[in-house]
Amino acid sequence: MLPSPLEIVILAAGKGSRMKSAAPKVLHEIAGKSLLAHVIESALSLKPAEIHVVVGHGKQSIIDAFANFEADGLKLNWVEQAEQLGTGHAVQQVIPAIDKNSSVLMLTADVPLIGPATLQPLVTSMSAFPLALLTAEFPQPEGLGRIVRDDTDNVCGIVEHKDASPEQLKIKEINSGIMCARCAELTNWLGQLDNNNAQQEYYLTDIVAIANAEGNPITTFQARHNHEVAGINSRSQLAQVERIYQHQQAEQLMESGVTIIDPSRIDIRGEVEIGSDSIIDINAVIVGPTIIGANVTIGPNCTIIQSTIGDSSQVHPNTVIEKAIIGQKVNVGPFARLRPGTHLGDEVKIGNFVETKNARLGANTKASHLSYVGDALVGGNTNIGAGVITVNYDGANKHQTTIGDDVFVGSDSQLIAPIVVEDGATIGAGSTITNKVSKDQLAISRGRQRLIDNWKRPKKDSKK
Ligand code: UD1
Ligand code: MG
Repeated sequence: MLPSPLEIVILAAGKGSRMKSAAPKVLHEIAGKSLLAHVIESALSLKPAEIHVVVGHGKQSIIDAFANFEADGLKLNWVEQAEQLGTGHAVQQVIPAIDKNSSVLMLTADVPLIGPATLQPLVTSMSAFPLALLTAEFPQPEGLGRIVRDDTDNVCGIVEHKDASPEQLKIKEINSGIMCARCAELTNWLGQLDNNNAQQEYYLTDIVAIANAEGNPITTFQARHNHEVAGINSRSQLAQVERIYQHQQAEQLMESGVTIIDPSRIDIRGEVEIGSDSIIDINAVIVGPTIIGANVTIGPNCTIIQSTIGDSSQVHPNTVIEKAIIGQKVNVGPFARLRPGTHLGDEVKIGNFVETKNARLGANTKASHLSYVGDALVGGNTNIGAGVITVNYDGANKHQTTIGDDVFVGSDSQLIAPIVVEDGATIGAGSTITNKVSKDQLAISRGRQRLIDNWKRPKKDSKK
């Protein structure tokens, strides 16, 4: 029978001194999300009754980072460990808050890729065992706790790297730092910890020898993948885990029918959906929530943040898109910048060095070269020539430009907002437009051309 309910303890009080950072280690990020947030997400998928997070170093900034956190009615229970006296001491701080009949799954906030499928067997095993350990075989177990077994292969203890004998250092079976125990027994074992060890800390790992000495059966489970138990203690390990995580996401996308030119040169941060037969070229940074349709091509070096891109659109190299909604068969870039509030209808074309902001462009409208279209409502089938600027800012306030359907705005024109250009209007190149242009009118405001015959250009003074 499974003791119920399940409560989860996440250890996050350590300083993480090896990160050499002003920020607490657990707020460092993998794929734009903090280490702690990754662990909380895995914890939640096990549907626990409670999640307790032990905090100490950088406590307030961690709590602030999760200020409005709530998932399925569950809030995080923050428990302070004022002095970081070790992982065993950290768990001791939570015990008073835990239901005595529960199973306690202990996770560490610096092991972010741990998945629910690996954790579930530990929890389930509580029906038969009071203590279950998550282990792994590491060819180079440098720095990690080693699983010590007796002649009959039963686990009899964990020895920390710093306390291990040369013989024990040869053990390749390591402690992931993740374990599950029945609360009543756990409380008893924690009460017996001491700090007689190399680091003078109360090690959580010492409960294993205590439990064994009391005759308790201990079970172990191997992580499904070694990367799931990869701990982050340094910036180098942070970067390694980031790459592993990005590779996993790239694999998932490729499995779903997306071509990724080089899976080691893509970064997906947050929820990103990409339709089949889309092609993502190198160095794409895609930040969710983003939805990219089918048959879309994303050229090299593009950044796409919280946007939607319709089917069969093409984003050419070096384009930056943020909080934009893009229709189908749209062409954007190279070197375009779509800023928040951009809304492009189907088959729109935005060419090189065009910037849009808070702008709606109707179907089949084109701005092919060097334009700024901001605070603008533009109809369909309109052509915005090279170098056109919607002059939206008077130094104090922003004003709206409204352009109808089938308008032709000649190159190098400025539209001084607020301004309306109605359907079918034509604006001659080089115009500065300050007044409304009505339907089908031509507006032209440039200086008239003068012609002077036999013009003598000035000559350079000859040096004396
Ligand atoms: C720990 C394990 C080791 C295991 C390794 C796996 C112990 C004694 N050692 O070592 O066997 O192989 O993880 O990654 O448990 N923490 C607190 N309060 C403290 C100390 C630590 O909350 O007083 C938290 C840290 O924030 C961290 C976690 O506990 O999230 C692990 O601490 P860390 O110092 O990283 O332990 P390791 O040396 O990695
Ligand atoms: Mg660690």
